[in-house]
Amino acid sequence: MNDVLEGKRILVGVTGSIAAFKAAQLVSQLRQRGASVHVIMTKHATALVTPLTFATLSNNPVFTDPFENPNEPPLAHLQLAKSADVVVIAPATANIIAKMAHGIADDLLSTTMLAVRCPIVVAPAMDADMYEHPTTQANLELLRSRGVFIVEPEAGWLASGRLGKGRLASVEQIIEAIENALRGIKRDLEGVRMLITAGATREPIDAVRFISNPSTGKMGCAIAKAASERGANVTLVCGHIDVSPPKGIQIVTVGTAEQMLNAVLDELSKEHFDVVIGAGAPCDFRPVSVFEGKLRRGENEKLVIELEPTHDILATVRENYKDILIVGFAAEYGEPTKGAVEKMRRKGLDMVVANDITQPGAGFASDTNIVTIVRRDGVTEELPQMSKLEVAHRVLDHVKELLEAKKGR
Ligand SMILES: Cc1cc2nc3c(=O)[nH]c(=O)nc-3n(C[C@H](O)[C@H](O)[C@H](O)COP(=O)(O)O)c2cc1C
Repeated sequence: MNDVLEGKRILVGVTGSIAAFKAAQLVSQLRQRGASVHVIMTKHATALVTPLTFATLSNNPVFTDPFENPNEPPLAHLQLAKSADVVVIAPATANIIAKMAHGIADDLLSTTMLAVRCPIVVAPAMDADMYEHPTTQANLELLRSRGVFIVEPEAGWLASGRLGKGRLASVEQIIEAIENALRGIKRDLEGVRMLITAGATREPIDAVRFISNPSTGKMGCAIAKAASERGANVTLVCGHIDVSPPKGIQIVTVGTAEQMLNAVLDELSKEHFDVVIGAGAPCDFRPVSVFEGKLRRGENEKLVIELEPTHDILATVRENYKDILIVGFAAEYGEPTKGAVEKMRRKGLDMVVANDITQPGAGFASDTNIVTIVRRDGVTEELPQMSKLEVAHRVLDHVKELLEAKKGR
């Protein structure tokens, strides 16, 4: 697959944050991925890192201030703004965020930003008090509303010596946002709160054995990643998963189906959620009693384990939350639509994403899936084989439609 960064023209704006040195790694990685990188530094940024660093890493001249540096072409910013495929400001000070939000153009970078028409990624970095200040938050909201991709800063140790939110996001996260901006992924789920389950639960038999299923959590993690990229606020309740969960989301880890149910109800009781997506695979049955210690092999001895059904998570959510949008997944053995419709009715779901696990490329551990989407309002869609991330985006397109329909009711 082609690297989306290959051959792209990326304009990096570096501002006067103590995290300016981290932009060196960003520029270096973008160039290693085949992008052509130009850098504009604010005057305050040059007091923290030298332009020579960025000139060397980008292999291009760095622009700072044509008023002070007569050697710089005076209208270079207009050319840079016009030719860029994406602009990223990292780190972004509270100052540049405020200037961008209000159209102030008093230096080369802020002036350039008024001329930019391509996607913009902004990665704020500042002390927690500055980040949490209502002015900064309102300015970020303004930028978001204009389609700017904001890469949320991380919580952690800050240069001021205190702990809090304001540390520049990792280079990996900033590059991911640049890739999304280049792919044209829209922030169309901004502000939507989603609770997603992923992975298999494990129901203990004794101290070392359990009953489970082959779910890897790939589908649930793909939905969490896609939703978070589109701006949703995601909480992932996950059982056993074989993949790394996406970054920048809240994660609650559980073991058994009962723990998954309790974690889901606990999260729902703490704050308002708009959507619950049950992409996890909680076991439908569990041993009636768990053997204390380890069961030993006996001569010619059969072991009979009595099972009882676990509580149905999505049905329980529906019983308690009449108005929440609920999406279920159905792994069906054979033609999936009939089972999906039956599951949707029985549990009071708004939508079911069903797959036939006997089809190659549609099973548990596969990187792809072949799904049929069935909605309570009668809409159905059969999708061809596609990656689980692509399936996730199509599922979210339907979720967005259903949320809009609910709003219009
Ligand atoms: C050492 C030092 C570190 C700073 N770090 C930050 C920072 O991380 N974030 C921020 O918003 N401002 C920070 N500031 C304040 C900005 O540099 C100041 O607001 C400046 O006017 C920003 O100008 P610029 O946005 O044009 O680069 C720092 C200042 C100093 C002296």
